[in-house]
Amino acid sequence: MPQIDVYDTPELLAASAGELFVELAHQAIQDSGTFNALLSGGTTPRAVYRWLAEHGEMLDWHRVRLFFGDERCVPPEHPDSNYRMVRESMLDALDGLGVTTYRIPAEYPPAEAASRYETLLRSLFDGTPVFDLVLLGLGADAHTASLFPGTQAIHEEQAWVVAHYIESVAAWRITVTPPLLNNAKTVAFIVSGEGKAAAVEAVLRGGHAVDVYPAQVIQPLNGSLRWLLDIDAAKLILSG
Ligand code: 6PG
Repeated sequence: MPQIDVYDTPELLAASAGELFVELAHQAIQDSGTFNALLSGGTTPRAVYRWLAEHGEMLDWHRVRLFFGDERCVPPEHPDSNYRMVRESMLDALDGLGVTTYRIPAEYPPAEAASRYETLLRSLFDGTPVFDLVLLGLGADAHTASLFPGTQAIHEEQAWVVAHYIESVAAWRITVTPPLLNNAKTVAFIVSGEGKAAAVEAVLRGGHAVDVYPAQVIQPLNGSLRWLLDIDAAKLILSG
């Protein structure tokens, strides 16, 4: 069963997610010398990244390697780029502290970008990567990363990174796949706002239907699953 924590405000949610990031980073750096984190895109985690930038002195950033769970098929300086969001909310403030960031090269054609990222991951890890932390968001349609309802990527068992066209957003996306996500030591969903309450209830309390609620496919094999919610996102599971 996942650990579910509910916070009174989006600010407390972001700070708690930041503290979890720091706690797991200290543990990983102590254990192996390196902290490998896979970051979520979207807007919710922006506050977490800003918190980490403001509390940057808490970490040996030169021992931190940042990766991305998904990316829009746009260049890195495009307003829709997840990399740009992370750069603006955190990386620019950490400049010079030695953090290593491996962005998805989404300026290439989708399939090539996915292939390049997978090749990069295979060059950095022996076997399937075991990320110390995977941060994930949740869409109102219960998608996570870019695993959208009705897409084959939900069931991908071989490739670590795929590119696919998403009808509901009329755009190509690149996403890591469940074999990678579920191999992590800790997977943490960060979900905020009333608009996500129905998706949270469906994923956590609804019937098992990964094609409809793709976030349900996130079941770490050996790691822990955490849900960090604010009270608005949790309102339908609190009343039950
Ligand atoms: C993306 C994210 C995506 C996001 C959800 C929630 O590229 O947009 O990876 O999975 O986490 O869509 O997005 P918000 O945080 O903006 O609500």
